[in-house]
Amino acid sequence: MKNIKAIIFDAYGTLFDVNSAAEKCKDKIGDKWEGFANYWRTTQLEYTWLRSLMNRHKDFWQITEDSLDKSIKAFNIDPSMKDELLNLYKVLSPFKEVPEVLKTLKEKKFKLAILSNGTPTLINELVKNNNLNNLFDDLFSIEQVGIYKPDSKVYDIPIQKYHIEKNEVAFLSANTWDVSGGGNYGFNSIWVNRNNNIFDFLDYKPKNEIKNLSELINLI
Ligand code: LAC
Repeated sequence: MKNIKAIIFDAYGTLFDVNSAAEKCKDKIGDKWEGFANYWRTTQLEYTWLRSLMNRHKDFWQITEDSLDKSIKAFNIDPSMKDELLNLYKVLSPFKEVPEVLKTLKEKKFKLAILSNGTPTLINELVKNNNLNNLFDDLFSIEQVGIYKPDSKVYDIPIQKYHIEKNEVAFLSANTWDVSGGGNYGFNSIWVNRNNNIFDFLDYKPKNEIKNLSELINLI
């Protein structure tokens, strides 16, 4: 991949492990913790798409709570766990290779940024709690444009800030639909396929597929 000037990362599922909140409660939730975590994540994403289509925006933190309320009912989880789960969502762990990879990329002088559905506060806190704050040039939130990914207004945010071409961006996401969104927009989208998943049929095939972010270093 040549002429890359900026490397833009999705946050949830790509840099930070969204299942880690429910996993930390697995003793209390029991064996169903993983199904519950996946249901919560899927519902949360559906709500972002549905609210964008309905033109009824709510920020990602409110959507995270609404989708948790549904998931707690669907999986018959003790409702008193709600606050604990929400608080854990604020301090999600990064995947283990993340700090080292970001340091290496920063030394290579790429612009590094997050582009996320998360609110500015959520993203700031996640980055700060995990001591990653000095590694990013920007933390871009969709709140700036008031609509969720994969609306093209979202992917426009870094292009407008950096005054670069779309094909000078390497965009990394573990979310297949976000890889397609960024790719159809014109980014070089790279799929971080940590769990051997199947890609979507949405008129875009990723420029590259990697198993974790360490493999990125050899691509650019
Ligand atoms: C984000 C979600 C899509 O961080 O993972 O934008």
